[in-house]
Amino acid sequence: MRKINVAIDGPSAAGKSTVSKLVCERLGYVHLDTGAMYRCTAYKALQEGIDLTDEGRLTEMLGNTDIVLTPDGKVFLDGEDVSLKIREDNVSMAASKVSMLAGVRSELVLRQQEMAKAKGFVMDGRDIGTVVLKDAEVKIYLTASVESRALRRYKQNEKEGLVLQDLSVIEKEIAERDYQDMHREHSPLTKAADATEIDSSDMTIEEVVNAILDLCRKQTGEDA
Ligand code: DC
Repeated sequence: MRKINVAIDGPSAAGKSTVSKLVCERLGYVHLDTGAMYRCTAYKALQEGIDLTDEGRLTEMLGNTDIVLTPDGKVFLDGEDVSLKIREDNVSMAASKVSMLAGVRSELVLRQQEMAKAKGFVMDGRDIGTVVLKDAEVKIYLTASVESRALRRYKQNEKEGLVLQDLSVIEKEIAERDYQDMHREHSPLTKAADATEIDSSDMTIEEVVNAILDLCRKQTGEDA
């Protein structure tokens, strides 16, 4: 089957990662979670006590920072496996902050474009269809209501045995991150003109995955 690239953008907790992984399994593609790169940047800045608004120091730090996303979904920061540590709530908020800075974005975007030079990738993030892979053959804008995203996050935390926050607190945090990601000056989260919007509020994961596979099939003209 002819390989293509798939861009999946959308707000936090819309299920981008889960869906991307499943699409990759079905197509034999590799998932690139660009959010993990902003999370690594934020995590390292927190560790080193760098001000999250200091664009100069953060850009300089990134010059000496090695981030590796492995095909099996692990994230290595300067050789250390940080796959779990970068998912903590304080890192999520910090990632949203550092992602506002143009210097940080341009460095990470270059790396992302380099990674997806060959075809056969599903890349998820906020600016994939609009900036990073403008020529992706399939572009998805995956969204869901704040309430359903918060409920999914709550259930996921419960399943993973994490400290349980009230649903209302999770809702508030998601809404706050949405606002931050959609209203920043550089590459705000927005649907690309040629992206297909999928609202997953009332859909199962399997339905979302099948909708995306259908679009891929239409592009390649083959069975996916
Ligand atoms: O997808 P995520 O929640 O892991 O992303 C963490 C933060 O990184 C999110 O608040 C927005 C930012 N981000 C971004 O600005 N551009 C991307 N391509 C991916 C993530």
